[in-house]
Amino acid sequence: MASEAPTTISMLSADDVASRVPELGALLHACVHAGASVGFVLPHTEDEGEAFWTRRVLPAVRSGGRAVLVAQQGGRIVGTVQLGYDTLPNQPHRAEVSKLLVHPDVRRRGIARALMAELEQLAGELGRSLLTLDTRTGDHAEPLYASLGYRTAGVIPGYCLDPFEDRLDSTTIMYKVL
Ligand SMILES: CC(C)(COP(=O)(O)OP(=O)(O)OC[C@H]1O[C@@H](n2cnc3c(N)ncnc32)[C@H](O)[C@@H]1OP(=O)(O)O)[C@@H](O)C(=O)NCCC(=O)NCCS
Repeated sequence: MASEAPTTISMLSADDVASRVPELGALLHACVHAGASVGFVLPHTEDEGEAFWTRRVLPAVRSGGRAVLVAQQGGRIVGTVQLGYDTLPNQPHRAEVSKLLVHPDVRRRGIARALMAELEQLAGELGRSLLTLDTRTGDHAEPLYASLGYRTAGVIPGYCLDPFEDRLDSTTIMYKVL
């Protein structure tokens, strides 16, 4: 078996996000179709995935309130996570973790852990000492975040539509003090 290219983690500029929208949309699309509950339900198209990056993420990166980190192997984006820090004046110390996505082909190799380590480093550099997030209750991300020191604040039942089935799923709210 050919050895895998090394994984590098980096932050994308707004122009990088813009030029790599097709790749980022394809990654989101692959994760949703593999069962991820990350805001979308089937039918989910690559166009919808690309529109998410163009309309919701890019403006926030351009205005300086959001960072997009990516994991790349051989120049291909295989994972990503975002840090939202456009907080109101009473929360200058808080930031929100979102859209941690690793391509189904390369899971369980430590890529999510590496992305989260870099994200926490960045949060510290931005003076953010409280990180918050939500994740579907029972998903693989929950033990991942717990192993990284995130604590569960609570569970909200009936929070979001399941991407595949006609039912509502719960979400778990988690936080970490850096
Ligand atoms: C959750 C996700 C990001 C993990 O990515 P990954 O690169 O495979 O994760 P890692 O290899 O860094 O795994 C770190 C830890 O997470 C947990 N974990 C990850 N995948 C798991 C699985 N399939 N089953 C059980 N635990 C799992 C384990 O604790 C693992 O540590 P270990 O391998 O030492 O046991 C990935 O499965 C994914 O993209 N899922 C869909 C999107 C999603 O749900 N994102 C979270 C939104 S909040």
